[in-house]
Amino acid sequence: MKRMVIAVSGTPGTGKSVFARALAKNLKARVIDLNALIAERKIYTLDPDGTKVADIPKMRLEFSRAVRAFRGMIVVEGLLAHLLQKKLLTHVVVLRTRPKVLERRLRARGYSKAKTRENVEAEALDIILWEAVRAHGINKVYEIDTTRLKPSSAARLFLRALAGKVSLKPGKVSWLEEVF
Ligand SMILES: Nc1ncnc2c1ncn2[C@@H]1O[C@H](COP(=O)(O)OP(=O)(O)O)[C@@H](O)[C@H]1O
Ligand SMILES: [Mg+2]
Repeated sequence: MKRMVIAVSGTPGTGKSVFARALAKNLKARVIDLNALIAERKIYTLDPDGTKVADIPKMRLEFSRAVRAFRGMIVVEGLLAHLLQKKLLTHVVVLRTRPKVLERRLRARGYSKAKTRENVEAEALDIILWEAVRAHGINKVYEIDTTRLKPSSAARLFLRALAGKVSLKPGKVSWLEEVF
């Protein structure tokens, strides 16, 4: 199999971290956790309210170093993963979750009402999917609704899409009316 460098992105709570681990196990790939990379290398600035804002050019530089340093397959996960270099990524997976379910997950994670609402709206507006398609073109982007899928099933679904057995072409999800 040709070397794959697969980005896994999506709104917080859509299941990126668990999906990436399941996929990497299947492919015997290494997982790069972008949040950890950003924290370890301190490539962020702090907002007045204390939130970390990643330095995207530095994140890209660190990622290209990591890709050069390791020759095997890579799964890179994080909500900025779709902003990594087009030439370094072979596939971009965007995970989706039904807003009602996402809301529950984020509240359970301790997110405030406001922060939960902001993320649920971003999910309903397809923001990350749109950014991913704009940056990488529709043919490289795979959209998976994980609302009713276990992470391991979602990973298998993606592998079937790679084999050409199913289509995960973006545009099947529409949650606007549930939120607005
Ligand atoms: N496919 C899924 N079905 C049900 N729960 C899930 C699924 N994927 C993730 N979760 C749960 O949702 C929460 C967020 O998952 P996580 O992988 O941390 O999301 P992310 O990395 O996108 O923020 C976790 O509690 C996880 O166990
Ligand atoms: Mg995560």
